[in-house]
Amino acid sequence: MWLTSGFLVGVLALSLPISGATFLPRGANTTAANDKLQTWWHSSGEVNPSTPVLDGNVRQSRVYTVEVATTGNSGNSGDHGYYDSFVYESIPRSGNGMRLSPTNDSLGGNVDGVSIEPDVGINMAWTQFLYASDVTIKITRAKGYAQPDPSKVVIRPTTTSYDVTSKGQSLYIKIPYSANGQKLSVEFQDDLWSYHTGGSDGLFVQNVDPNGHNYVSSYNSTETIVGVEPINALLIFASAFPPSDQVPSESSNDTYVVPQGSVTTLQNVTQSTVYFAPGVYWFGGANHAILPPSVSWVHFAPGSYVKGAIEYNTTAPLVRATGHGVLSGEQYVYQANVADGYTNNKSDATSLRMWSGSLMSNQTWICHGPTIAAPPFNTMDFDGEPVSYVSDYKQVGAFFWQTDGMEVYPNSTFSDIFYHVGDDCIKTYYSDVDVQRLVVWKTTNDPIFQMGWAPRNVTNVTASDINVVHTRYPSANSVVPTALIGASPNYLNSSATNNANLSSRIANFNLNNLRCEGLCPSLVRWNPLQNFDNFTVSGVSIDSFPPNSTGIGQSVINKFTNANGTLVSIGGESPGGVGLTIRDYYVGGEKISIAANNWQSDQAGQMNIDAAYWGHWTIE
Ligand SMILES: *[C@@H]1O[C@H](CO)[C@@H](O)[C@H](O)[C@H]1NC(C)=O
Ligand SMILES: *[C@@H]1O[C@H](CO)[C@@H](O)[C@H](O)[C@H]1NC(C)=O
Ligand SMILES: *[C@@H]1O[C@H](CO)[C@@H](O)[C@H](O)[C@H]1NC(C)=O
Ligand SMILES: *[C@@H]1O[C@H](CO)[C@@H](O)[C@H](O)[C@H]1NC(C)=O
Ligand SMILES: *[C@@H]1O[C@H](CO)[C@@H](O)[C@H](O)[C@H]1NC(C)=O
Ligand SMILES: *[C@@H]1O[C@H](CO)[C@@H](O)[C@H](O)[C@H]1NC(C)=O
Ligand SMILES: *[C@@H]1O[C@H](CO)[C@@H](O)[C@H](O)[C@H]1NC(C)=O
Ligand SMILES: *[C@@H]1O[C@H](CO)[C@@H](O)[C@H](O)[C@H]1NC(C)=O
Ligand SMILES: *[C@@H]1O[C@H](CO)[C@@H](O)[C@H](O)[C@H]1NC(C)=O
Ligand SMILES: *[C@@H]1O[C@H](CO)[C@@H](O)[C@H](O)[C@H]1NC(C)=O
Ligand SMILES: *[C@@H]1O[C@H](CO)[C@@H](O)[C@H](O)[C@H]1NC(C)=O
Ligand SMILES: *[C@@H]1O[C@H](CO)[C@@H](O)[C@H](O)[C@H]1NC(C)=O
Repeated sequence: MWLTSGFLVGVLALSLPISGATFLPRGANTTAANDKLQTWWHSSGEVNPSTPVLDGNVRQSRVYTVEVATTGNSGNSGDHGYYDSFVYESIPRSGNGMRLSPTNDSLGGNVDGVSIEPDVGINMAWTQFLYASDVTIKITRAKGYAQPDPSKVVIRPTTTSYDVTSKGQSLYIKIPYSANGQKLSVEFQDDLWSYHTGGSDGLFVQNVDPNGHNYVSSYNSTETIVGVEPINALLIFASAFPPSDQVPSESSNDTYVVPQGSVTTLQNVTQSTVYFAPGVYWFGGANHAILPPSVSWVHFAPGSYVKGAIEYNTTAPLVRATGHGVLSGEQYVYQANVADGYTNNKSDATSLRMWSGSLMSNQTWICHGPTIAAPPFNTMDFDGEPVSYVSDYKQVGAFFWQTDGMEVYPNSTFSDIFYHVGDDCIKTYYSDVDVQRLVVWKTTNDPIFQMGWAPRNVTNVTASDINVVHTRYPSANSVVPTALIGASPNYLNSSATNNANLSSRIANFNLNNLRCEGLCPSLVRWNPLQNFDNFTVSGVSIDSFPPNSTGIGQSVINKFTNANGTLVSIGGESPGGVGLTIRDYYVGGEKISIAANNWQSDQAGQMNIDAAYWGHWTIE
């Protein structure tokens, strides 16, 4: 059904030789650089849907071109004032096979979470620009696609309604200025893929490529749809111009401006700032940016595209990563292990993160602006726990399984983030943190909020305005919880239920305005490894759950005890002993509550909570 003639023509028109690069910069490349609008372009754009791009090239969308005009200078009648904004593309495995190492292309390596996506042509395009006033964006699809019909375009999150029009082959969307920026997914309803369960790898099946992975000629009734996403995703990241204190001087003698092209090392830099100007840089699949102790600031200017990963080694109190450029992990193999020649050999200690290094809790890390693409593993883990202020951050092309969100270290604030994420997304392992305005596009593994894996003492966590725009969990799971709010069992023994630590406590969580669009996982799935108290979720809206037969929508709180058989306490110190309060919980528009008697596992609320906890949680 997804295979509309428009899509077919589009694919055929663009089909390219498997090997070999193709340079197809489309249309003009006139960019804007004024105080209202800044766009950028890569002259080495490579349209290539299937293989790695050349080192010096940037993968360009096979489908979309985007132009931007400040509103007032725009209008779809005359098309005045539009400037080009480069549309990037990220593809599963970055076009590599299941490589073992950066130098060994033979198939092998760990199962990486990518299944049918390359056969289906799943990819994620994005464009980004800086703005200081309302803009209109003009999106044009490649030849062969149907003319856009604004009534058949969904913009997620659906919380904001945009003024959408069309003319000829182009779609026009007005994007109001916001100091927090706007992060949105533009979804043409004639270009969707429905993910069906049933793959022999535990993932999905597909019915379009008989020579591809997990092919079935047609879907049967147990091959259930668990997620629906665009085939050619398109994200628009409109960012406010950064404040001047987040843009280092390029000409200062304390700034090292990296020469474009291949970078072998930055370890001899003596300056405090490393500056990537517009252009393309690459470290190769067996190298990354190890910064010397002098460097406390790395800046990615808009229009920079850096194929590498950052490792700090500074004791400076203030450490920064700024700029609206791109840091891409596309040259690395999945779980690239630095201590083992960057081969696919998973190590929690030495597999490469996009952000790593020596930072400690007496240091502050400010990260504002960057987009990371195609991460090979967990995206951020420092040696210590720096207070992190992360804002206007984007993560795209996280097609591999173990591509987590960042650690939210003690006293950190996270805001205005887009996460395409394969694994644990918001890791609430630490106290005194605040998370605001996230847009989450979740793939197959682990929950949106994760607070498990080990007993913890965590208190004072607030989060608000979390919009989950897609999920596609292949089956219900408690160890890697299929949930918006999850807690995994102890990683040392994930089947034990008698290893809770009753002198530890997760408490004083306030999660507000949590929304999930389309097909969603359960609200909570907890393996309580410690007591819980004063945990409030206010305002939950879930569009729908996959069919009940999958169990994906079932909220579960498993019965956990300590070694002596004493049950964990939920609500031990709260009035009435109620430790988990859910308020204003809606599924498909229906308000769920204890009073309405529609919360149970066979009712709309799908709460399948162990009877041992009854009386200790409520839905108001
Ligand atoms: C625009 O394209 C022309 C021709 O391909 C090229 O010479 C020029 O450098 C490009 N400009 C930018 C800003 O990329
Ligand atoms: C659907 O197909 C799968 C695998 O091809 C098979 O295991 C399963 O039994 C089938 N179910 C039905 C209802 O035919
Ligand atoms: C940088 O320039 C300033 C003056 O502009 C000078 O005082 C300083 O010594 C210079 N530093 C280096 C490392 O050259
Ligand atoms: C960095 O410094 C070391 C030691 O001084 C030298 O051997 C090496 O060639 C330098 N590397 C670069 C890229 O300059
Ligand atoms: C970090 O810097 C220290 C010296 O300050 C050095 O001993 C160490 O090897 C460096 N680590 C890395 C990963 O470069
Ligand atoms: C920060 O903490 C580290 C490790 O705990 C310590 O070695 C270092 O001296 C501290 N730095 C400052 C400036 O206090
Ligand atoms: C957060 O900061 C406050 C005030 O500086 C401090 O008292 C508290 O211990 C910090 N929290 C954590 C978890 O480090
Ligand atoms: C809770 O955490 C916030 C940071 O998110 C902090 O500002 C506040 O002081 C903390 N409250 C308490 C009671 O520690
Ligand atoms: C939590 O805090 C309590 C009291 O300080 C302590 O006994 C317990 O070991 C802590 N738990 C963890 C996991 O650190
Ligand atoms: C289990 O009970 C024994 C005997 O009462 C006690 O010594 C021990 O501390 C208890 N262990 C836990 C984990 O509570
Ligand atoms: C529960 O949270 C509320 C507000 O978030 C706070 O006022 C209250 O003291 C907390 N209760 C406990 C038992 O920590
Ligand atoms: C849905 O599944 C749960 C268990 O997974 C079961 O208890 C419940 O009865 C089912 N509901 C319906 C309506 O079949």
